[in-house]
Amino acid sequence: MNRFDTITALRQHLDSLPTDRPVGLVPTMGALHEGHLTLIETARQAGDLVVASIFVNPVQFNNPDDLARYPRTLEEDCRMLEAAGCDIVFAPSVTEMYPNPPAMRLSFGDLETVMEGAHRPGHFNGVGIVVAKLFNIVQPQRAYFGQKDLQQVAVIRQLIRELSFPVELVRCPTVREPNGLAMSSRNRNLTPEERELAPALHEALTLAHDLLSEGQSTAQAKAAVTGFFSNNPNFRLEYVDIANADTLQPAGEVLAPGQTAICLAVHLGKVRLIDNVVF
Ligand code: PAJ
Repeated sequence: MNRFDTITALRQHLDSLPTDRPVGLVPTMGALHEGHLTLIETARQAGDLVVASIFVNPVQFNNPDDLARYPRTLEEDCRMLEAAGCDIVFAPSVTEMYPNPPAMRLSFGDLETVMEGAHRPGHFNGVGIVVAKLFNIVQPQRAYFGQKDLQQVAVIRQLIRELSFPVELVRCPTVREPNGLAMSSRNRNLTPEERELAPALHEALTLAHDLLSEGQSTAQAKAAVTGFFSNNPNFRLEYVDIANADTLQPAGEVLAPGQTAICLAVHLGKVRLIDNVVF
């Protein structure tokens, strides 16, 4: 596995390779877990030359404490990537990516008004800027993103469409612990007691999912999730929404199979967690 921390060195290497193999990009912020490694594996199985990026992107953090607390485990990450069969890792510094703080702004229309867009102002601007830069730097044919961040997938779809990036977006399923907890780098910031409680997010989503399959309304399913967390003082529910899985716009009723997403954000201690299931 080759590792680069400058754009020039990475580009020189990529330009020296034969052009017959598609390049697959897996953007990450490090502190890797099985969820990330599944993206690498999916890219490998597609036959791609797999480029993973590791960059804790300051521009997408709307909370300075969250940025300061974000886990950084670069050496361990590189060992995991190598073992997973990743070909190239790009791990630039903040000044390499942003010699000056970016002055431009990206906004994503209706996606900014719901869920993560509404609760984390500026977050998707930062995601859009860094992913657009990575697309220009790496020039991948395919890019792999996790359903865990469903709204991010919609943002990237819009970025690709509106800026005509010649990139195929691949959405990969959420990887969970055996107890249902969605894997997340932020899980490392949970105390052992909080980690025991955290599978409740998936329990709440499963409850809503089951209610919808029994024919109850989206309003009833949302109310059940709100009730679930109001009975549990360890959690603070930030939002629960039932939405179109592609556009993330609120769904007043259940849509076609695979089209309805139940999404939530919850605070557990100092950690904010998000999760979703698609119905
Ligand atoms: P990060 O949170 O490190 O996630 C990197 C990729 O891994 C994202 O596509 C995310 O959806 C996916 N992922 C995380 N947990 C997952 C899980 N349990 N199962 C499946 N996939 C999972 O998302 C980001 O970084 C950043 O916003 C980034 C796109 C890198 C831009 O900075």
